Amino acid sequence: MDVVEAVKQRKSVRGYKPDPVPKEILEHILELASRAPSAMNTQPWEFTVLTGEVLENIRWSNIELLRSGVPPNPEHVIAGWPKESIYRQRQVALAKQIFQLMGIPREDQKKRPEWLERGFRYFDAPAAIIISVDRSLGESGPLLGVGAIIQNICLIALQFGLGTCIEDQGTMYPDVLRKYAHIPESKRIIIAIAIGYPDWGFPANRVETEREPIDNLTTWLGFD
Ligand SMILES: Cc1cc2nc3c(=O)[nH]c(=O)nc-3n(C[C@H](O)[C@H](O)[C@H](O)COP(=O)(O)O)c2cc1C
Repeated sequence: MDVVEAVKQRKSVRGYKPDPVPKEILEHILELASRAPSAMNTQPWEFTVLTGEVLENIRWSNIELLRSGVPPNPEHVIAGWPKESIYRQRQVALAKQIFQLMGIPREDQKKRPEWLERGFRYFDAPAAIIISVDRSLGESGPLLGVGAIIQNICLIALQFGLGTCIEDQGTMYPDVLRKYAHIPESKRIIIAIAIGYPDWGFPANRVETEREPIDNLTTWLGFD
């Protein structure tokens, strides 16, 4: 697939078919994705790839904690935004679109938490990739490299007919991942990627996110 086409096609997929993803395909995707750049070629990323019973255990342990009101405990700073900011507006626009497509009214106190739970269940994807980095690398340094590889994973996945959703939600309870996926304390858990064959009939997969025009974001200097 042409790179530009892949960039245009990639979108967050939040509804999947149950079909399993062959290990060889996931392996191939990670191998290709690891051509990503990283500072001084440090390659800070480590992968834990989950499917089957292990993933089921993790999904339901996450939900148990969420339902019990246990506060999420991510291991790096999750994006925050000032209340009146453009960032908040963009977040609200996304949520509005998802809830509208899913037919969930704003005031629906039952369905909204149910939607939240889907993220903590990796959107019921048949597989999930957890990315962690060695704590010796420090807190923010390795994140740029991780950003590069997660984009690579999502783009390459398209070549195999797979959809992805990068998600902080999947790493909100690191102790669950440590318990079932045996990720040691020496590794900082950064991000999860749900991966599987998209169910294009799932309403939230019809979300079309917008982007700010580049002119509003760019300063051009020295061109004329
Ligand atoms: C670092 C990061 C964390 C994200 N975490 C979540 C998440 O927890 N739940 C979710 O539904 N989407 C999550 N997303 C997906 C974004 O909402 C999505 O990328 C954004 O709305 C743009 O939409 P698109 O991916 O369809 O282009 C995350 C994306 C990134 C890059």
